[in-house]
Amino acid sequence: MIDLRSDTVTRPTAGMREAMATAEVGDDVYGEDPTVAALEAEVAELFGHEAALFAPTGSMANQIALQLVVPVGDELLCDADAHVVTYEVGAAAAYGGISSRTWPAVGAEIDPDLVAAMIRPDGYFAVPTRAIAVEQTHNRGGGGVIPLPTLRRLREVADEHGLALHCDGARIWHAHVADGVPLREYGRLFDTLSVCLSKGLGAPVGSLVIGSAEKIARARFLRKRMGGGMRQVGVLAAAGRYALAHHVQRLAEDHARAARLAEAVAPFGVLANPVRTNIVPLDLTKHPLDARQFAAAARAEGVLVSVLGPRTARLVTHLDLTDDAVTRATESLTRTLRA
Ligand SMILES: Cc1ncc(COP(=O)(O)O)c(C=O)c1O
Repeated sequence: MIDLRSDTVTRPTAGMREAMATAEVGDDVYGEDPTVAALEAEVAELFGHEAALFAPTGSMANQIALQLVVPVGDELLCDADAHVVTYEVGAAAAYGGISSRTWPAVGAEIDPDLVAAMIRPDGYFAVPTRAIAVEQTHNRGGGGVIPLPTLRRLREVADEHGLALHCDGARIWHAHVADGVPLREYGRLFDTLSVCLSKGLGAPVGSLVIGSAEKIARARFLRKRMGGGMRQVGVLAAAGRYALAHHVQRLAEDHARAARLAEAVAPFGVLANPVRTNIVPLDLTKHPLDARQFAAAARAEGVLVSVLGPRTARLVTHLDLTDDAVTRATESLTRTLRA
C-alpha cells in the first residue's frame, strides 16, 4: 500500500531512533529534562521568540496558545476551514470558553480588510474580539501558503485593534521551504505560534507553543492543567531535534512529488487548486466517482487517500515515500480516475 492519506503516517528513521535511544532525559514536570529544554530553546531561537514549550500534540499546542490570547467568553476570529475550529473537537469552547467566529475559507487566501471589518470592540453588549488565528500552510486549503505581504497586513490590522495574532504553524516548515521566508520572519509577525514536528518532519509526536517568556510560563501551567505535563519525554524531544536538523530542507522533495501527483490527476479535472506544498487537494464534483468511491477504488489499486467531504479528497506526500512509490501511485490513480 502507498499511503497518501497524511504526512503524519511516517515512521521514525533509523537515525531518529538512534537519537531517541541515546537521549539524555529527566523529569520534565520538574523542569529537569535537558533534551526537552534544548529543543524548546532551539525552536524559540528559530522563530526569534523568547521561549517555547513542548506539547504532545498540535491540537494541545493550539489550544494552549488560544487560551493565552483570548480570555474566557471573548472572541477568536479565524477562517471556517481552520483546524482550530474544524478538527479540534470544540476544544476552544470546551477548555478556553472561547467564542469563535469565522470568515469564509478560500484556500489559504485571506482578505485582511474583510477580517478587519469583522472585529468587534469592547462594549457592554458585544463579544469583544481578542485574537485572529491563521494557518500556515493551510491544511484544508490544499497546503496553500499565505503570502508574507498578507500576513504583514494582518499584523497591522491586529495592531490597529489591539488584537493578538496566532499562527497554527503545524506545517510552517513547508511554507518556509516553498516561499523561502525565514522562520524568524514568520516568528516576528505573531504573538503566539504552534508548530508540529510530527507532520512532514517525521517525528512520531510533538509540537511546540512559541511566544514571550511570560506567555510560555503561563502556557506551562495551562499544559499541566490540560493533562499534558510529561516526564522523561526527552526521548521524544530528541526525535524532534533530529527532525529539525535533517528533515526541513528535504521538504522540497515532498513538494516536487506532490507536484508530480497533481500533474497526473489534473487531466481528469479533479485538482481543486494549484499545488504549492505537499498536499494535493481533489475536487470530485465533476467526476463520476464521489470521494468515498474514489478512495475505495484507489485502495483496490494499492493507494490510500483521505476523504475530506462527499466530493473532496486529498493526497499528501511525506518522508516515507520514494520517487518510485510516487510513480506507482500516479499510475494507480490514473487508472482509478479513468475507470
Ligand atoms: C494545520 C493543523 N493544525 C493542527 C493539527 C493538530 O495536530 P495533532 O494531530 O498533533 O493534534 C493538525 C493535524 O493534522 C493540522 O493539520
